[in-house]
Amino acid sequence: MKDIDKEPFFIKEIKEQPKVLANTLSRYLGPNLHLKITRPPLDDQTIRRIHKVYITACGTSYHAGMTARYIIEELSQLPTVVEPASEAGRHQPLVDENTLAVAISQSGRSPDTLAALNLARSRGAVTLGLVNEAPSPLTEAASGSLQILAGQVFTLSSTKAFTSQTLALELLALRLAQSRGLIKERWPQELENLARIPEMVRHALAMEDKALQMAKTLNDYDHVFILARGALLPMAYEGALKLKEVAHFHAEGYSTGEFGHGPLAMVGPRTPIILIAFAGEAASDLSLARAFRARGAPLWLISEDGAKKDQAMASMADLIFPLPAVQARLRPMVAIIPLQLLAYHLGRLRRVNVDNPGGLLGDDWVGESQLAH
Ligand code: BG6
Repeated sequence: MKDIDKEPFFIKEIKEQPKVLANTLSRYLGPNLHLKITRPPLDDQTIRRIHKVYITACGTSYHAGMTARYIIEELSQLPTVVEPASEAGRHQPLVDENTLAVAISQSGRSPDTLAALNLARSRGAVTLGLVNEAPSPLTEAASGSLQILAGQVFTLSSTKAFTSQTLALELLALRLAQSRGLIKERWPQELENLARIPEMVRHALAMEDKALQMAKTLNDYDHVFILARGALLPMAYEGALKLKEVAHFHAEGYSTGEFGHGPLAMVGPRTPIILIAFAGEAASDLSLARAFRARGAPLWLISEDGAKKDQAMASMADLIFPLPAVQARLRPMVAIIPLQLLAYHLGRLRRVNVDNPGGLLGDDWVGESQLAH
């Protein structure tokens, strides 16, 4: 059997996600419906003096941070800023001793993320490393760490660590809100919703054949736009990153609302569009969908039971990847699944080694941390 014919780690890791998410939940949800993230720096006293959250990371981890911004602001009402770690040293981030600085890294060793955390620490911030690998340079540098339990990662491009980071950030948001006295009566409902996540992800994984179908069609094109709004927008960015990194296919993630302001001019029969449009949001995306059809662009929908919930939108789509109904805040963890599966199948069709796709930075790369400023 040739190497290319073996089942890659990339798909194994995608399929491990329900188990990994269940592990993270059972580690941090206590039997008394209390979050177990209580050791410093996340004790009540520290949290109550925090006025701002600053999140920094690279690549896929950065996308998890982007989604967390929506969730943390909604739940804890703390202003939250997210920036790529490579940009942190390029300005004077407004970070002080009343800031919680969260650095996210699967490996715990991305140089730019480490440098950004150290910068925040030098300004007095309470620092938290959100990592999979511990101990690691990031856990050593941060005043506290929160470990996701994704297990060993064999692939270059992260999938199970990404959803696990997103879940851990949701738990962090709940923890912040809990200490700030903001979710008392909603608490049992919040936990019930969280407990359903592994099952919802399993449900999405079971529709792999749709992703394969999408991949076969997409392989005949050269570009794709992936559009979404709100907390789902970073999933469009992440899906596009996966297609570039793993399938070496040109994809652009874009805000649905911004798309009409310029990029629409690029749309025609050779530019398929993947629209992530959950029920409730779909109505506002309808006019854009009509514009895509008028220009002859293939339109694929990732939607919450799209066919049933929004007939007008569904009737315009060439293909629908239906997702199970899930609380709005938790949708990102489910909506990314079809895009991960698409990247996998497209990568295979394009004969890319999806575990180690190549074409990336080599050992001679100097990160921001090593540049002379
Ligand atoms: C990049 C990888 O170099 O590092 C990405 O190509 C990854 O896939 C990024 O997301 C960040 O890695 P980490 O370990 O800091 O989360």
